[in-house]
Amino acid sequence: MFVPGHRQKMIEKALGLEVDVIIFDLEDGVPVDSKVIAREQVATALGRSCEASCFVRTHCAGHCDLTKDLEAVLVDGLDGVVLPKMECASDVDWVSRKLAGDTSIVGMIESATGLVQASEIASSPGLVGLMFGAEDFAQDLGILATRAPGEMVYARSSIVVAAASAGKFAVDKVFLDVQEQEGLVEETRMARELGFVGKALIHPAQIGTVHSTFEPSADEIDYARKVVAAFEEADGQGPVAVDGKMVDPPVLGHSKRVLGIDPD
Ligand code: COA
Ligand code: MG
Repeated sequence: MFVPGHRQKMIEKALGLEVDVIIFDLEDGVPVDSKVIAREQVATALGRSCEASCFVRTHCAGHCDLTKDLEAVLVDGLDGVVLPKMECASDVDWVSRKLAGDTSIVGMIESATGLVQASEIASSPGLVGLMFGAEDFAQDLGILATRAPGEMVYARSSIVVAAASAGKFAVDKVFLDVQEQEGLVEETRMARELGFVGKALIHPAQIGTVHSTFEPSADEIDYARKVVAAFEEADGQGPVAVDGKMVDPPVLGHSKRVLGIDPD
């Protein structure tokens, strides 16, 4: 959940929300004349207790405000940094040298160059995952992000693959229309199908929808149970049929993950 660092009311609210990660923003969600107050408020918020992990989105590598951002938020309670507009792996090294050893870095891919470099960026030892920044990416390509289903599927899928090849996770773009649930469900479903582990949020109304769409449905759980049972019955005798469809070891692995069983 992105929370603009200059909006104290939203910071208060965010600390009590049932989200996995709060991302206090110091970058593009904060007007230039509010940067100082945002750094102060975010540093104070990091000192408060909350259930979610607390990350801060700083300015990007090479930006004159990055050092100020890092100096302000390197306090107890900072779990990670979201680095925007990543374009090369060495940006991660520079930032990780400034951070405490257990502080995670998530890199945002927001440009054509970033996308082309995504596998190299994902391989940086200091980086735990990638996130897609679709608005800046669209601007870099000279197009306007719409809300068409399947939009930017190439970029989204490339980011998932780049992250997976380095053993890292990928988080999907934000959905801008905070009033619209149907489109959010559709986009979240696709994010899950592409292999994202989660979705960036901008508004509390999106939390429940995104969580429930990422949860396996009752039908998926039911099917996964059948697959696991069929394999146990076949006792290692090759592929089996479940509901008239062949299932083989990759399907078994997926079914185990759905049921929370370690696939290995
Ligand atoms: N984090 C925490 N609380 C939030 C929130 C957020 N991202 N977005 C909205 N809220 C709170 C509001 O403060 C309000 O609280 P209240 O009911 O206690 O008064 C409640 O949720 C409902 O908000 P609402 O009035 O519907 O939204 P808004 O019109 O005030 O704001 C946005 C809409 C899009 C401007 C706002 O959600 C926002 O700033 N989101 C984050 C944007 C951002 O970080 N962008 C950069 C990264 S892409
Ligand atoms: Mg951006």
